[in-house]
Amino acid sequence: MKVREITPAVGAEISDLDINLMTGGEFDGVVEAWDNHGGLLFRNQNLSNEAFVAFASRFGELEAAPVMENGRTPVPGYPEIYVVSNVIGSDGKPIGSLGAGEAVWHTDMSYLENPPDASMLYALELPPAGGDTWLAGMSAAYEGLPDDLKDKISGKRIKHDGTFNSGGFRRAGVEVREDPRESVGAYHPIVCAHPRTGRPALYLGRRRLAYVEGLELPESEALLDELWEHATKSEFVFAHKWRVGDLLVWDNRATLHRRDPFDAEARRIMHRTQIKGATAPNAVCTQNI
Ligand code: SIN
Repeated sequence: MKVREITPAVGAEISDLDINLMTGGEFDGVVEAWDNHGGLLFRNQNLSNEAFVAFASRFGELEAAPVMENGRTPVPGYPEIYVVSNVIGSDGKPIGSLGAGEAVWHTDMSYLENPPDASMLYALELPPAGGDTWLAGMSAAYEGLPDDLKDKISGKRIKHDGTFNSGGFRRAGVEVREDPRESVGAYHPIVCAHPRTGRPALYLGRRRLAYVEGLELPESEALLDELWEHATKSEFVFAHKWRVGDLLVWDNRATLHRRDPFDAEARRIMHRTQIKGATAPNAVCTQNI
């Protein structure tokens, strides 16, 4: 098994590894690379639903996939697999979620008290162009913050909104409130320590309807704009161009991700699993950094 850094801020490609034949020692190497790089790419995999779930389970307990935008439950027999797809089924409804539009920068389900620790996406069918998935490294982004911005966010928390998903779709049963202080969601520290590595990282969630606790709304908006502009700079991100059989694994505590739009007439089918959050995101005592 080989590990190749994709960018210094985030991502490594694991090669010479067939996940179906992976040994315990190789899995330890995978976890080490994941801790070091925040996101991992495995090419040329051939994973049945069962093998995908078995691999994901090695990282921790799996989340049951949420009910999708189409109101359907996920893949029959595999309640942990969520379908991300624009393909229309025989009943005239999409077989999965997120459509063909852009999915804006976010980290998964940060509106929960215990958001999922990790997510993984496996490519089954792809459009000829577009639909690239981007990762951004939030430890590098934190380390690269100017000191005045570090001071401004020290000890502060963001309210993470749960009204809309990253494709801009309203979640089922949630009422839209224009004031982020009134919308559904959870508060988390802006700078969180990774539970295994202790490395501090920005934990931003998503921009829409976010709010910095304790600030007047215009002040909160200005601070969030400044943070988002910094965190998504080109030096902290990379775009992954998919091939069928690719598996991308990211640590929600150390990365953000987004997706480019693609032609709605083309077909894209991805399977996703998520590892349950073992703890709430932990604050970092910034004086000790
Ligand atoms: C997501 O935002 O979780 C989906 C990303 C993708 O479809 O590439």
